[in-house]
Amino acid sequence: MEIKYDLIVIGAGPGGYVAALSAARQGMKVAVVEKQTVGGTCLGRGCIPTKTLLHTAELYKEAKEGEEIGLLTSGLSVDMGKLNQYKNQVVDTLSGGIEASFKKVKIALFRGEASILQLDQTDPDSGEKYQQVCVGEESLIGRKLLIATGSEPVHLPLPGMDLDGVWDSTDLLDNDQPIDSLVIIGGGVIGMEFASLYASLGTKVTVIEALDRILATLDKEFGQNLKMILKKQSVEIHTSAKLQSIEEGSEDGKRVLICHYLEKEKPQLSSGEKVLVAVGRRAYTDRLFDDKLEVRPQTERGKVLVDERFETSVPGVYAIGDVIPGIQLAHVASAQGENAVAAMLGKEPPIRMDVVPSCVYTSPEIASVGMTADEAKEKGIETETLKFVMGANGKSVLTRQERSFLRILVEKETGRILGAHMMCARATDMIGEFSSAIVNGLTADRMGEAIRPHPTFNEAVAEALRTFKE
Ligand code: FAD
Ligand code: NAI
Repeated sequence: MEIKYDLIVIGAGPGGYVAALSAARQGMKVAVVEKQTVGGTCLGRGCIPTKTLLHTAELYKEAKEGEEIGLLTSGLSVDMGKLNQYKNQVVDTLSGGIEASFKKVKIALFRGEASILQLDQTDPDSGEKYQQVCVGEESLIGRKLLIATGSEPVHLPLPGMDLDGVWDSTDLLDNDQPIDSLVIIGGGVIGMEFASLYASLGTKVTVIEALDRILATLDKEFGQNLKMILKKQSVEIHTSAKLQSIEEGSEDGKRVLICHYLEKEKPQLSSGEKVLVAVGRRAYTDRLFDDKLEVRPQTERGKVLVDERFETSVPGVYAIGDVIPGIQLAHVASAQGENAVAAMLGKEPPIRMDVVPSCVYTSPEIASVGMTADEAKEKGIETETLKFVMGANGKSVLTRQERSFLRILVEKETGRILGAHMMCARATDMIGEFSSAIVNGLTADRMGEAIRPHPTFNEAVAEALRTFKE
């Protein structure tokens, strides 16, 4: 028997493809199996398509309000068909780029669904351990295996979820028609990005969120501010509102979907032409393990369990990304991929996993990294918050931004940067500076030594830092 690959990767999302490239660049012979888009959920039906649509929606919104700034447009409209084509073009370009990188480092790409046949077997000739995977008729044998199969939308077990027009994020991303009214179930990250997107396109948006606030995993102030901003765009947000069922109805002679929910225990209803259900994502391992597979990695509620080196309970078998417990973000999956490959090669992890920036691409953008003031307090750390309101930032004024701000959390005694939390234009680009500052233990004074160009949104960082110990 020939052990042909050093590593077999199942799933070419941001976890799997980054791991595969890293392994190949470090001399491993790698095979990747992917059944859909090379680039995964992120590229095919997640990060990239949503941000492509948001880009056009944002331009449209700005142009519509352009008269005051001397931008005269007549007959301005969005062609959803063309927008959808453009989004697909962006996806194809980036996916093709990853495939070209695979070719360059001689990664073998197999298209199809992988099934794991055998794990932790010993080759009788060489005494080496191996893992076996099949893709259709093809059998792949490798020393190590990386499971990077990602996640899929959670489906609620409620009446009416199968009705035509009740969509998940993948369905809505494929939409190429204007939508008059949209009800969004779930005020999490996906829900709020789509609310911002469709509100900008002129759709009447209603959000139904079970918890007492939107964007519940982030600092309270973000959700409160976003709610106010979206309200100005006529977005209706119902919190402490739990969906019960969806049924078909008709309004003004048009078919609508009526969502029944309990808001603060009272029965209520909202209707829309379409319904987006965005209530979380579950780890995806459907048909991954062959029925006859004896040695299996341990799982918990469908998620593959791993240790701090991303190795599963089966030696030589690793897992990363949305399929394991923890934060479901593309950059987290990629970082885990790099660290898992380092572990396979007996090297130190190159990336710190304890400092994770998280971003929401609403308008304005939201970005956050490191500790919040409450978390620092719980740890008994005395802090100072450096706050800057963007109303005094030239670039924010001239581009007519909504009320926005940034906050930097600093350890009082040492001046060490502990966290940064922003809601402003380009927040998602600016947050990286703070990830780097926290990882490198920089103080507010050291960060303040750098000149930031004028006029930029980034100048606000210098302004805020200047207020330390003022
Ligand atoms: P995935 O990207 O899900 O990739 C897994 C791949 O494995 C898939 O391509 C799948 O086809 C393949 N696969 C599964 N099983 C098999 C099998 N048996 N055989 C072969 N192939 C298989 N994150 C961000 O950081 N920023 C964002 O802006 C952002 N926006 C998002 C927007 C939306 C609408 C959604 C849904 C998600 C978004 N995310 C975002 C989350 C991000 O997409 C995921 O965290 C990320 O894609 C996880 O990467 P992964 O490699 O673990 O899995
Ligand atoms: P989420 O967990 O962020 O939000 C789901 C929301 O649905 C929660 O607030 C929950 O309370 C609510 N909910 C659940 N059941 C409900 C019910 N019956 N009625 C009303 N509300 C209900 O999950 P989401 O938005 O689906 O996103 C999944 C993941 O995708 C995120 O956790 C994030 O990691 C990733 N993502 C990241 C993005 C980014 O980085 N910009 C963008 C989009 C997604």
